[in-house]
Amino acid sequence: MRSIVRIVTALALVTAGAAGCKKKEPQGAGGDKAGSDMKAGSDTKAGGETKPADGGNKIALLLPESQTARYEAADRPFFEKKLKELCPQAEIVYSNANQVAADQQQQAEAAIAKGVKVMVLDPVDGDSAGVIVKNAKAKNISVISYDRLIKGGSSPDYYISFDNEQVGKLQADALLKKLAADGVAKPRITMINGSPTDNNATLFKTGAHSVFDGKATIVKEDAAANWKPEEAQQLMEQFIAAIKPTGFDGAYQANDGTAGGAIAAMKAAGVDPKKKPTTGQDAELAAIQRILAGEQYMTVYKAIQPEAEKAAELACALLKGEKPAVTAKVNNGTGDVPSVLLTPIAVTADGAAGTSSVADTIVKDKFYGADTVAQICKGYEAACKAAKLQ
Ligand code: BGC
Repeated sequence: MRSIVRIVTALALVTAGAAGCKKKEPQGAGGDKAGSDMKAGSDTKAGGETKPADGGNKIALLLPESQTARYEAADRPFFEKKLKELCPQAEIVYSNANQVAADQQQQAEAAIAKGVKVMVLDPVDGDSAGVIVKNAKAKNISVISYDRLIKGGSSPDYYISFDNEQVGKLQADALLKKLAADGVAKPRITMINGSPTDNNATLFKTGAHSVFDGKATIVKEDAAANWKPEEAQQLMEQFIAAIKPTGFDGAYQANDGTAGGAIAAMKAAGVDPKKKPTTGQDAELAAIQRILAGEQYMTVYKAIQPEAEKAAELACALLKGEKPAVTAKVNNGTGDVPSVLLTPIAVTADGAAGTSSVADTIVKDKFYGADTVAQICKGYEAACKAAKLQ
């Protein structure tokens, strides 16, 4: 369990460097519908050979959204940095679809038109992205299904992600254990799942239900379209209006963004979130602060660095015409996709039953950079002292 945490111990150290290799563009990126090119290698010696006329050194990185911090803060810079190291001749064509499937389709078409040889695609809509893979394959472009599985009758070359059913199990298990420790005999839980177009959301939900079913009553359940925090907030408002604040004991939220929305709804309805343990995922800074302040119970820590770096490693190999062997396989409805699946970790403030503490994971790994503790503790000094982080 701890091995992934160890792997990413150096995460912070590379964050600054990774930022240095980011394309210069307005912050809050993701609005870049047309896409952008950036050279992975600024080393002209290594990357200075004449480019093949067919643009044969281009790799597309197509990310799904930017409302969730991980994509621009971690996935993209870690991918870019590793690719620069391994494949300095490679040029990245980057786009972020802001969770609009049609935009991603266009971004993919633009990348194909630019002559990319490899596409790393985190799909907004796993089914409709099947067309993107088919179009790419028709042009001999290799495709890596990144973090979310691409389906829709397609055959991506690789899939790299976490054990996503395990994410849902960790969330549900931590919540039930917390409620049991609080003396709740018959837990009543509200569930807000992630985007139905994201295969991961289905896996999180399946994993969570496999733990809840038979042990808890799901009093309300719905899905936040496109993972929108504001949609989760509205759903939670409706839930509370329908079942009253006394009608639930805990809240299952599929990720930290939607947990933030649900907790805002609780506060607006006069419900103390400290009394309604809430789950999350991604170890976002705001969520870790809520966890230390007692407003959110847990998150799931997924070490993005090894995920992004593995994708860069595979992309570089594919660009060179290699096809590295990997051990796992995941069926996407069309066939078995060679896969790499990493291990998620449940995190609570102090590492309560079955979870790891913020200190042993996010802080130890310097998940937000060298100043991780300072970032977490800004405005949360008392909570940080209580958790012995400062
Ligand atoms: C990712 C999560 C993320 C969510 C919303 C999922 O596919 O695995 O880490 O919170 O999408 O972007």
